Amino acid sequence: MAGIKNVLKGSHDYTLYKKRKSLVNRPQNMYNKKQNQRLAFDGGSYMKYDTQQCRLTYKEELAPGVFDFRLQNQAFAASAQPGQFAHLLVPGKPLRRPISICDVDQKADTLRLVFEVRGEGTQILAQYQVGDCLDVLAPLGRGFTIGDTSRRALFVGGGIGVPPLLYAAKQFGVNATVIIGFRNRDAVILKKDFEQAGCRVILHTDDGSAGRGGFVTESCREELENCEQVFACGPAPMLKAVAGQAQERCVPCQISLEERMGCGVGACLVCACKIRKADGSEGYLHVCKDGPVFDAKEVVW
Ligand SMILES: Cc1cc2nc3c(=O)[nH]c(=O)nc-3n(C[C@H](O)[C@H](O)[C@H](O)COP(=O)(O)OP(=O)(O)OC[C@H]3O[C@@H](n4cnc5c(N)ncnc54)[C@H](O)[C@@H]3O)c2cc1C
Ligand code: FES
Repeated sequence: MAGIKNVLKGSHDYTLYKKRKSLVNRPQNMYNKKQNQRLAFDGGSYMKYDTQQCRLTYKEELAPGVFDFRLQNQAFAASAQPGQFAHLLVPGKPLRRPISICDVDQKADTLRLVFEVRGEGTQILAQYQVGDCLDVLAPLGRGFTIGDTSRRALFVGGGIGVPPLLYAAKQFGVNATVIIGFRNRDAVILKKDFEQAGCRVILHTDDGSAGRGGFVTESCREELENCEQVFACGPAPMLKAVAGQAQERCVPCQISLEERMGCGVGACLVCACKIRKADGSEGYLHVCKDGPVFDAKEVVW
């Protein structure tokens, strides 16, 4: 990966990348020279993000095709919040790939990203080796609202929707029950990480090869009795079911949505999602800038 920047430079994709950067710097975005960070106006507050080179300090294949990356950057580690995401430049591809921040180690100044190889972009990312540098735009989006961590919280994650929950669940420690679901025993990831944080973990696999058989929603219904709030991330049908169960019990529920993205900072309108406002009318928000975490009651499925 030594020549990775040179591959991109001089290519058509690099021209597109530079054009996109100028989009990011449109007038509604401001530049704070002192902090060397861009500040995007997001309708009342400022979201701070930056593009930096991050060294890959650790790499592991957690399950077939699922990679655990630790990327070192002091500024990102200091500012990243649970539920936010990083946008990774992929050499030879015009669009960055959004990957959630799974965890942060402020002592080692690292962001932890766990991703599954889905297509060409993630396949290229998986080829990076320890010592290589990645071009990262972060931390992006609005993450989970954590609030009082002594209030019992239920975390529900499915498949590659599990990693975005770890950093948030760690804040609650023993006050968190985490229900995680995977296809089968070989696909199980991060169970020990949640346990080491003190969380109670309920594992599901679709085929029953580890933990309980069946979907996470079966345990969710039972566990909702004992919690005051829900945090969920995973496939849309799972999120819809969890949101419905939480609403039936009047338990507040925050969900992290996935949508295809272009810029990742609210400039290109690719990631619109339909929401219901407090007055009952419908409108659109950006998953990248207003999310990816939303109050489940807002989402129009
Ligand atoms: C906010 C957010 C957080 C995410 N966090 C994680 C994570 O922690 N771990 C993880 O494994 N995956 C995560 N994803 C999904 C991940 O971004 C896609 O799997 C990845 O972009 C696929 O890229 P590709 O080039 O391998 O696939 P391709 O199918 O070749 O991608 C083609 C294009 O479609 C986009 N795309 C494809 N699938 C998705 C998708 N599911 N969501 C958004 N864009 C997509 C790509 O970014 C690319 O622009 C997240 C997505 C979002 C929106
Ligand atoms: S990805 Fe461009 S506006 Fe959200």
